[in-house]
Amino acid sequence: MLTRLALLLALALAAPLGALAQDGTIDCITDQSATITYMGDPVGNLPEIEQQTADAFMAACPHITVEIVIGPASASDLLANYLTMLEGRSGDIDVMRIDVIWPGILAENLVDLAPYFTQEELDAHFPGFIQNNRIGDTMVAIAHRLGAGMLYYRTDLLEQYGFDGPPATWDELESMARTIQDGERAEGNADFWGFVWQGNNYEGLTTNALEWQLAEGGGTIVNPDGEIEVLNEAAIGAFERAAGWVGTISPPGVVGYAEEDARAVWHVGNAAFMRNWPYAVSVSLESEAIGDAFDLAPLPAGASGRSVATMGGWSIGVNRFSANVDAAVAFAKHFASYEEQKRRAISNTINPTIAALYQDPDVIEAVPFFAGLDDVFMGASPRPSTVTGALYNRVSTLYSTAVHSILTGDEDAETALTLLELDLEALLGN
Ligand code: GLC
Repeated sequence: MLTRLALLLALALAAPLGALAQDGTIDCITDQSATITYMGDPVGNLPEIEQQTADAFMAACPHITVEIVIGPASASDLLANYLTMLEGRSGDIDVMRIDVIWPGILAENLVDLAPYFTQEELDAHFPGFIQNNRIGDTMVAIAHRLGAGMLYYRTDLLEQYGFDGPPATWDELESMARTIQDGERAEGNADFWGFVWQGNNYEGLTTNALEWQLAEGGGTIVNPDGEIEVLNEAAIGAFERAAGWVGTISPPGVVGYAEEDARAVWHVGNAAFMRNWPYAVSVSLESEAIGDAFDLAPLPAGASGRSVATMGGWSIGVNRFSANVDAAVAFAKHFASYEEQKRRAISNTINPTIAALYQDPDVIEAVPFFAGLDDVFMGASPRPSTVTGALYNRVSTLYSTAVHSILTGDEDAETALTLLELDLEALLGN
């Protein structure tokens, strides 16, 4: 199973193999005692594994205490927390999780990590991620996890309902989801749904909606030349289609779902398909209702013929207002190290950002679907965070709010996108 997770790793293919593993020793950087706080990830089984990361660090550097604070699961809420904290020049959180779209927003408030790394250490990571974290002359965060949107599907149900494989197009997904849902309901499972995804008004909706829009050929919100791409027939069609799922093949409540809400429905065996990131693989394997009766596929293609995955991922950075910068950097370096990424890959199916890990025999053995990931994932599409820089969050909020109003039926697609285009023009000064 899981052979198709292959599609996650185009970046791995595009990147040259970097330097090999560090030797596993943990550099405490400072001899001074310190207590630092890390903003932990509450999603899936990550709290447990991140505590192990902190424990390993504290065993090697007993004079440094790492306290994990569990913040919001929603990327949008987390950013709001950070911005409030930083506005008050607070060092309450020393070590920060940094979403792939945030370097341009948070750069001024993060410690330049470049002096703490050798070129060899940096070269071990996918160059795109290192580049993404470079703002001007500084390196504001170090990458530790890749992500891409993908389709989870129930192999047992597909077989039971006579389907040979996962849907190649959104049309196929709709009809398969409908057939399986009707069948399961007829068997008495009133809570069964065809397809769950992230429809709440937050960053996660931006990632889902960009996948629908691009797959239909509707553009990329703001293209690399700064041109706004939201108001066109393809985008209108993409969002009308998604609005049609709400209450039919997807629960009415999907317009309030984040990643973990979708996963909760999937986890108890009440969904045929789910759009989610790779972290959900390891937790799904623990589900009694599903076991290993699931696999992964590219998200379905739209009219453009393209299957589109939004590129996600996380880095780790250090708050400029931290009272213990060296200790915080030491923990950040440990967190993003070869050994730690390897541990998370093996036990949590978290995709590493260090290219050599995809060739590491222990990783290949434990997570076979990381290997042999040829020409897939070439479609992993960035959100327009580089071109919009510090304004990205406002762009994304306008976008997800407009899409959400279409999903809930508060606005028709053409009106919502017309207003969105005007708002984006005003914001970006086009
Ligand atoms: C995942 C992705 C991240 C994205 C977020 C949206 O955590 O890795 O890049 O912004 O989901 O919910």
